[in-house]
Amino acid sequence: MPGATRLAVLLSGGGSTLQNLIDRTADGRLPATIVGVVSSRADAFGVERAKRAGIPAVIEPPKPRDTFSDRVFAAVRGWRPDLVVLAGWMHLLGVPADFRGKILNVHPALLPAFGGKGMYGRHVHEAVLAYGAKVSGCTVHFVDDVYDNGPVILQSTVPVLDADTPDTLAERVQAAEREAYPEAIRLVAEGKWRLDGRRLISG
Ligand code: GAR
Repeated sequence: MPGATRLAVLLSGGGSTLQNLIDRTADGRLPATIVGVVSSRADAFGVERAKRAGIPAVIEPPKPRDTFSDRVFAAVRGWRPDLVVLAGWMHLLGVPADFRGKILNVHPALLPAFGGKGMYGRHVHEAVLAYGAKVSGCTVHFVDDVYDNGPVILQSTVPVLDADTPDTLAERVQAAEREAYPEAIRLVAEGKWRLDGRRLISG
């Protein structure tokens, strides 16, 4: 049974993150409803996944740049979401006042390491391996106007193994994301938390 929390999802790529949320809202593990998807690319497979699940999807290309955030949030507002979930979204957004504290992102590393402009997808795992880090993981955080910067909601760690390639590490991190992202969305939606500076305190 779809739940009461209304989620809008923003994506730019394959949409495996969206698919996980579709599956978990469908079977009730995440008590939420995905009310719409915005893709920055017409050819993103995530758009196809949305259509197959009967979720409205709109395309908002990043150019012209000066109107991008306004176009994205105009589409999002039409669905009256409680939260906006970034799912492989590759662009910096200007966060409008009515969406402050309501946008979540999952980053495939333990922020503040291996984050920032240009640090997305495979690039992150390559950088983790090149650095020689022994653990990695994922970070779910609130989104503000700076790349990978808002307060952390939840982090989950995975080991980096000697035999890892960017692909095997990505697979392990994405398995962690599939658990952490729905859990973080549920936590934020339930509202039993507060921010003390940057620190999210539960309960
Ligand atoms: C996910 O691993 C997500 O953490 C990462 O891209 C992948 C999206 O996969 N996001 C970022 O790197 C954002 N900085 P998907 O397109 O199949 O959902």
